[in-house]
Amino acid sequence: MISNTQGLKHNRKLISVNDVAIKEIIDIFGIADAGDFKVTSKKCFLNLFFENSTRTKLSFERAALNCGFDVLDFNVQSSSILKDETHINTIRTINSLGVDTLTIRAQKSGETSLLSSFVNRGTFVLNAGDGTNEHPSQGLLDLYTIIKQFDIDAKPMCLAGLKIGIMGDILHSRVARSNIFLLSKFGAEITLICPQSFLPLNFANYYNTNFGCKISHNLKSSLKNKLDVLMVLRIQKERVENKSIISFPISQFSVSDESQLNGAYVMHPGPINDGVEISNELAYKSRFSLISKQVEDGVKIRSAILKFLYS
Ligand code: NCD
Repeated sequence: MISNTQGLKHNRKLISVNDVAIKEIIDIFGIADAGDFKVTSKKCFLNLFFENSTRTKLSFERAALNCGFDVLDFNVQSSSILKDETHINTIRTINSLGVDTLTIRAQKSGETSLLSSFVNRGTFVLNAGDGTNEHPSQGLLDLYTIIKQFDIDAKPMCLAGLKIGIMGDILHSRVARSNIFLLSKFGAEITLICPQSFLPLNFANYYNTNFGCKISHNLKSSLKNKLDVLMVLRIQKERVENKSIISFPISQFSVSDESQLNGAYVMHPGPINDGVEISNELAYKSRFSLISKQVEDGVKIRSAILKFLYS
């Protein structure tokens, strides 16, 4: 089992949801509830995204502004990366600019962690998603959305009894991984719903546990047996190396109408592919959809993380 480390403030890095202690998560959620994010000392923030993003990038930017930080704009397409500057040398340059908080989104699993070892000790590094590995701030915001929706007090094992299905491309999803680690730690009963080809085969071997996850290859029967929440994931084509694994009928792992949900709330980290894993109708018009709420909570939680780091 992955153990809790000494915590976020001690590590000065949020690479995995396991870098933040349970007590710290509860404190961060308290800050999000209170909604006062202003940090009195002047801080400088930069989003270093080597991969495309709408939600996460804008959400961190919005959060940094909420905290009163100066926000530097970095766009890979107009940067010296296109003149073959390496990612590590980009970090060396950022070190000399006096950045206090740096988010890094990387295409390769483990790259955020690697790059963080080149970052000045005084700078906090937040993983904004690295390959198929982790997306810790998404995990934290998803947990927050769930506890708010079910009016649960944030405390250890507070999700005991809650049934959460994670459906779709689990194999390539850093969101699934962070959620599996985090939601299981808080006691949720997790079912991974996907075709066999989208199941991370080495999961149990690698971590020496399957985090108590059940496996289902049948969405209909999982919903019939009742879920409180269904998290839907898109097929992350850009990360699928062997395209032949997408040969299953996608409609078997897709939701389009709230009548299919049997009372479950539906979540999705975005971006959604309308009519593939979920319909626009269900995502944006149904009272069972928490998708817009996730985006709102994302700003709150990221603001709270930044405030927490400097309080
Ligand atoms: C996800 C990501 O980038 O990992 N989106 C997000 O950050 N909100 C999920 C995805 O790309 O499918």
